[in-house]
Amino acid sequence: MTESFGKVFLVGAGPGAPDLITLRGAEVLKRADVVFHDALVHPGTLAFAGHAEKVAVGKRCGQHSAAQRFINKRLIDAAHKYAVIVRLKGGDPMIFGRSQEEIDALESAGIAVEVIPGVTAALAAAAQMRISLTRRGVSRSLTIATPRVGANEVTSDWSKALAGADCAAIYMGAAQAEKVTADLLAQGRSPDTPVALCESVSLPQFQALRGTLVDLPALAARLGNGPALIFLGTVFENREAAAAAALESLQLTG
Ligand SMILES: C[S@@+](CC[C@H](N)C(=O)[O-])C[C@H]1O[C@@H](n2cnc3c(N)ncnc32)[C@H](O)[C@@H]1O
Repeated sequence: MTESFGKVFLVGAGPGAPDLITLRGAEVLKRADVVFHDALVHPGTLAFAGHAEKVAVGKRCGQHSAAQRFINKRLIDAAHKYAVIVRLKGGDPMIFGRSQEEIDALESAGIAVEVIPGVTAALAAAAQMRISLTRRGVSRSLTIATPRVGANEVTSDWSKALAGADCAAIYMGAAQAEKVTADLLAQGRSPDTPVALCESVSLPQFQALRGTLVDLPALAARLGNGPALIFLGTVFENREAAAAAALESLQLTG
């Protein structure tokens, strides 16, 4: 007799607010026997998994490799025991979520995997700020990047990708805002490039700060302890402030 395994669902929980998970994600949580979840996942989202055992795994800002191997093993073990296993991740599982390592480990153990997408933080931030990341004639490219380099990983040229991006969303960068600013200036970005910082998107503690690249470290110092994103690009220009400054200079010269 062949052994039958459970199925593992990698589910995107969305940016935080429990009602920003997909219907498909919520439905699979309702059927789950066990849920392995990230630290960023809201208790209200976990509440969808009424009868499941809930296991907190991982840290904010990704996991160390050893911890990741341990998570892979726990998922495989759970698939030998349960029918419906959910690995619940903040945002979308395929954006800075280390999903590929889990998919590869599960598939090589012969376990079926399905990925259910979620709303990634950058897209939820754009919605909450009511600022479109693409704009006709202004913003035709969107780059998603992180300056974060894990332990034992080779250093990265992440900022090169942002040299010519019309719009960029930088994950896991707010804690190193000074270095991010220096790297982007070194790539030739103007100190006047509009930037925005978005903290705790979709949650009550949400705040958005706007300025220019040269202000970024000072803006980042005003953030609290929530997860935060850095954005840059013309679409973040504070048009009311620019219009007010133009009007003021007209009045001064007039
Ligand atoms: C390990 S990455 C995971 C990203 C996630 N998979 C996604 O698609 O949004 C964690 C980073 O995502 C960003 N992030 C996640 N949730 C956020 C939120 N609610 N508000 C602002 N940034 C968030 C922050 O940059 C945080 O450091």
